[in-house]
Amino acid sequence: MEIVRTIADLQSKIKAAGTTEVGFVPTMGALHEGHLSLIKRSVSENVLTVASVFVNPTQFNDPSDLERYPRTPEADCALLASAGCGIAFLPSVEEMYPEPDTRTFDLGTVAEVMEGRYRPGHFNGVAQIVSKLFYAVQPKRAYFGDKDFQQIAVIRSMVRSLNLPVEIIACPIVREASGLAKSSRNTLLSAEEKTNAALISQPLSCSREFMRQGAGVAETAAFVTRGLQNEPLFRLDYYEIVADDTLLPVKDWNESAHITGCIAVYCGKIRLIDNVHYK
Ligand code: PAJ
Repeated sequence: MEIVRTIADLQSKIKAAGTTEVGFVPTMGALHEGHLSLIKRSVSENVLTVASVFVNPTQFNDPSDLERYPRTPEADCALLASAGCGIAFLPSVEEMYPEPDTRTFDLGTVAEVMEGRYRPGHFNGVAQIVSKLFYAVQPKRAYFGDKDFQQIAVIRSMVRSLNLPVEIIACPIVREASGLAKSSRNTLLSAEEKTNAALISQPLSCSREFMRQGAGVAETAAFVTRGLQNEPLFRLDYYEIVADDTLLPVKDWNESAHITGCIAVYCGKIRLIDNVHYK
């Protein structure tokens, strides 16, 4: 695996590989099996896989979240190499932002609801960095995790509005044995918080059964929030049951062919997100 730090080196290595079958996996590092599942999928579908490891400052709306975000570049490179990645791109902030990025993207309502409401500016920052990375790598396919369900909708909206020739591929959530969705931020949880955090996914997966037994949308949402309100360590930002295409709340299961429940909850100081597909 090649490790490169500048866009010029990245592009010369991609050119030298002599293929247009390039798969790309953008990450912020502190890699775990969730990230590696995207790398492995890309490796199986492309001739060359490129991964980026870059903690993007413009998508952090909370400075303390940026400061404590875990950084493990050596371990990341070892994991990427073992998963079959061809090129790891680890740029500096100056390389990606030689000048402040003043672009404001029109990402539509999918960027305004849920995370958009609680993390103003977050998705614009994501669109800034992912568009810069797409321009640099020019991948045929790019891989994103369903863990960040809303992020995928936002990226698809960005790709459409910029006419970028990239196929966006969504990959399933990888979980711990406890059910907790794997996340780089999980390393910031204490042992006790981690045990508690495992309780987030339980009402989500149980609520799918509840729904299949005939519970309505409001009842299903109440089932999830009730399950979490009993735990004093949690502070719920939202639980919303939304149509996959618009990310707008539904009142009835018949309103859309694909419906997902999305949660954001603080476990102590750490904010975690997760989701469940109902249909
Ligand atoms: P990061 O949080 O590092 O995640 C990189 C990719 O890994 C995202 O597509 C995310 O959805 C996926 N991922 C994370 N945890 C996962 C899990 N448990 N199962 C499956 N996939 C998982 O998302 C970002 O970085 C950034 O916003 C980025 C797109 C890189 C832009 O800076």
